[in-house]
This record gives sequence, structure tokens and C-alpha cells, in this order.
Amino acid sequence: MQTENIGRPKRARQYSINMEIIRTVKGLKEAASQARTAGKSIGLVPTMGALHAGHKSLVDRARKENDVVVVSVFVNPTQFNNADDLKTYPRTEEADCRLLEEAGVDYAFVPTAEEIYPEPDTRVFDLGPVAEVMEGAMRPGHFNGVAQIVSKLFAWAQPTRAYFGEKDFQQIAVIRRMAELEGFNDLTIVSCPIVRETDGLALSSRNVRLDAVSRAIAPNIHRILVDSLALKEQGLEAAEVQQRTVEAINTVDGLEAEYYQIVDARTMQPIAKWSEAGKLGAAGCVTVFCGGVRLIDNIKY
Ligand code: PAF
Repeated sequence: MQTENIGRPKRARQYSINMEIIRTVKGLKEAASQARTAGKSIGLVPTMGALHAGHKSLVDRARKENDVVVVSVFVNPTQFNNADDLKTYPRTEEADCRLLEEAGVDYAFVPTAEEIYPEPDTRVFDLGPVAEVMEGAMRPGHFNGVAQIVSKLFAWAQPTRAYFGEKDFQQIAVIRRMAELEGFNDLTIVSCPIVRETDGLALSSRNVRLDAVSRAIAPNIHRILVDSLALKEQGLEAAEVQQRTVEAINTVDGLEAEYYQIVDARTMQPIAKWSEAGKLGAAGCVTVFCGGVRLIDNIKY
């Protein structure tokens, strides 16, 4: 059993946990090497904590498909392009570790920022067009920061498989690109379906920031995306579905679309006609402000 100190020393709180919590890069590398030497497969689930049922679904899948499961819990500063967002990002370490223990995780990797970045990471990844649109355009530097942390985790945890949620649809394409660039060829990136509340709202760590009024409005995002499927069925082209969907979102009091973009589901490049989509089809990706909270969601056509 491990006894953990949380928070700053002045306010240190202790909790007991049976799962192994690794705090150092050295510890993570050792655990991974041991597992690999023993011929075991490793499933990695990178997270920023504030875990919910969406993360749990990734962990459960990793648990089913691998001998050893590692979950990282780290709010990665280099992917935030807004200092306030980083400061207010929910941090719930003790609850996270309890959830992970219950889910049968072998190792939770819970490092400090100093442990991950003893020196500034100056790497700039050539992520190409997948990272230039949508989130890439709205949040400069965000995907480079994601590539920095995920490439470190891949190198240290030596995963056989790594699990990511499709709520961050574009992020998965960016991580595939980073893995290709960095030569992580033996690793399978597993994309897992969005988990939703019963009213359709995609689970997100940011949902806790919604006040009661905004929480009641937010499910309209998914409803409008589902309605857009019917527009396609009626024969409307992608560009027109896109336009009507943005209008529908902005018609709801309390919602403001930052973007809604219909893209090729592999390249993330915008399409105006359905026939421009490749063999993975098309996806509609949206970012909406709801009561000051930036929510993202998507749908496949
Ligand atoms: O999706 C997230 O929570 C983060 O972007 C990730 C992949 C854990 C990297 O910090």
C-alpha cells in the first residue's frame, strides 16, 4: 500500500492506495522495461486527469486488451495557449487515483511539470495540414504541445497500444502524424467512441465548469449535430449542411459556434461536397462557447 501526499506541503493531505503511483520518469521507464522484458503488452491511456466515464471507457478497453495498463495523469502546460485555462483546469488527483485503482490499472503515472520538463521542450513538430485547421488554427501551439507530451509518454512507457477518445477527433489524427514522424511504428493507436450523458452531452472534464443554465443548454450541440445527419439524407451537400448547422447552433440562446467544419475524417481537410471525402468518410467537428465554457464535439457522416 502506498501513502500519498497531495497538494503543497503546507496543506498536504494523505491518502492510501494499493495501485502503484509512479512519480518519476525513471520509475515509468523501469516499469515499462520490466513488463516488456517479461514479454507483456502495455496499454497506455494518456490523460490530464479530472477523470470521468469517458476516460474510464478507455481504461476498460486498455485493461481488456493488454497485460499491463499505464494511465498518465498530467495537466500538460505546453498544450495550453491560455494561462487562465491552464490555471483553472480541474485537478482531482485523489479521486482520479481511486477511479484508476478500482478499474484495475497497474500503474498511474502522476508526475510534476518539473519532472516532465526539467528543461523547456523546444521541439517543433512538422505536423502538417492535419494540425493547421480547426483547433490548430484556433489554438496556436496547442497541437505541438500535445505532440511534445505524447511523444515523451510513448518513448518512456513503450506502449503496445495507446488509447484516445474520439471527442478530440482532430487530436487523434495529429497524434498519428506525430507517431509516424517519430517512428513509433510498432505501436497501435486505438481511437475510442465518445461517451455521452443520457441527454447527449459529450463527457468532458470541462463540463464541471457549466453552471445549471448552461448545462441545460449544452445538449443542444449534440442534438443539432444529429439533426444534420438528416440534412445529408435529404440530399444537401456538405457545404450547405455546414452552413445550416452553424446557423442552428447560433440560433440557440446561450450557444455560440466558434467553428463547425465538415472535413475528410483522415486528413482533416475541409470538404464542400460529400464526394471529396476519402475512404474514412466525413466528420463534422464543432467548437461551441456555452456559458463561457469552450465545448467540443463531432459527428461522423
Ligand atoms: O486529450 C488529452 O487529455 C490530452 O491532450 C492528452 C492526450 C492527455 C495530452 O496531454
